[in-house]
Amino acid sequence: MSTTTPTDTTPPLRVGVIGLGFAGTTHLDAYTALPGVEVIALAGQETDRLHELADSRGVPNRYADWQDLVARDDLDIVSIGVPNALHHPIAVAALESGKHVFCEKPLATTGDQAQEMVDAAVRNDRVLEVAYNHRRRADVQFLSDHLAQRDADGNGPLGHVYHARASWLRRAGIPGIRSWFANKETAGGGPLIDLGSHVLDIALHLLGEPRVVTASAVAYDELGSAGRGGSDRDPVSAATGRPFDVEDFANALLRFEDGSSLQLQASWASYSKDVEDIEVELLGSIGGARLFVRDYATEGTVTLYSDEQGVPTVTRPGVRVPAGHHQRVIEEFLTAVRSGDHAGHHGEFALHRSRVVDAIYASAAAGREMEVVA
Ligand SMILES: NC(=O)c1ccc[n+]([C@@H]2O[C@H](COP(=O)([O-])OP(=O)(O)OC[C@H]3O[C@@H](n4cnc5c(N)ncnc54)[C@H](O)[C@@H]3O)[C@@H](O)[C@H]2O)c1
Repeated sequence: MSTTTPTDTTPPLRVGVIGLGFAGTTHLDAYTALPGVEVIALAGQETDRLHELADSRGVPNRYADWQDLVARDDLDIVSIGVPNALHHPIAVAALESGKHVFCEKPLATTGDQAQEMVDAAVRNDRVLEVAYNHRRRADVQFLSDHLAQRDADGNGPLGHVYHARASWLRRAGIPGIRSWFANKETAGGGPLIDLGSHVLDIALHLLGEPRVVTASAVAYDELGSAGRGGSDRDPVSAATGRPFDVEDFANALLRFEDGSSLQLQASWASYSKDVEDIEVELLGSIGGARLFVRDYATEGTVTLYSDEQGVPTVTRPGVRVPAGHHQRVIEEFLTAVRSGDHAGHHGEFALHRSRVVDAIYASAAAGREMEVVA
């Protein structure tokens, strides 16, 4: 495991994938398409789907429960695509037994659990990578490259970025009103932890990883527990019989150390959108930038704002967004695993996002601004 690119003589990395829904299937297909990797084990509780997926992708070992997969001593990697509350026990068990871990977002249901996962990765010198796949969109990468440009005096194209807005808002997209997604114990929260963590990640990534110090938030459940706002895109493990006891809309004002700020909104359902909008907007002293993705659009999503000789200008660069964001983040994960140098790949970025989500929920519950645990 000392080279970054697999060669014919490098033994393949052996992977076990846990989960058979959108996430697990996407992981499975990403590894299957990549050289130098072999998925040798698959786990999930839907028996027919387990065998169907394993047969079609040539996976020899199948398990109903994650513990039996993680107990194998011939795996290099465990890939986690299961309900959020299981991320922590699976990742800690895998890391403590010497495996690298690729984990779905959010890293955990609480910041304390996320900290334990990072500690286990550091202690065992294993890679812990989190599937923040949307930051690998080509339009986000375009904006990231644009913001990195500097003039002769070292100034960026937007000047001082003092405020940002990030939102992921759905018209009717609760992923299974009675599924694990909509239950606090199994998911940790609603659209904020589910969708909000993605746009929080994009915003922090574009802003250069500033530290969030406080959160002032509100959260509401006006539709979900009344049975409105369900989606036709149910997860694989849909009916748990558990109550809907999370928010369906959340809104937070986050303050950074330097006094700049970010407004973060997430909803699974609200009477405000035709479909589903993802938006990240940066307001700078000499320019602005906007990512606006309507209903998973794959072009026309970037707009830049500035002045030319005192006249406001609007530029729409023609960025196309090919699919395959998960595959790209998994490729980066495998590169980190193969490099043998795991510093900075222990889940640290994802831990800060979990601490921010904690502070948002605590603020909404307390009705006042809360500090983010450093
Ligand atoms: N990054 C993304 O774009 C993205 C998209 C969708 C979901 N996700 C994340 O992926 C994770 C899973 O979401 P999903 O939509 O695939 O869910 P899902 O409900 O469709 O699938 C969950 C899977 O977990 C399995 N599972 C549950 N308990 C298990 C156990 N004890 N042992 C083994 N397997 C078990 C189920 O059998 C099922 O196959 C969540 O954390 C979610 O937030 C991320």
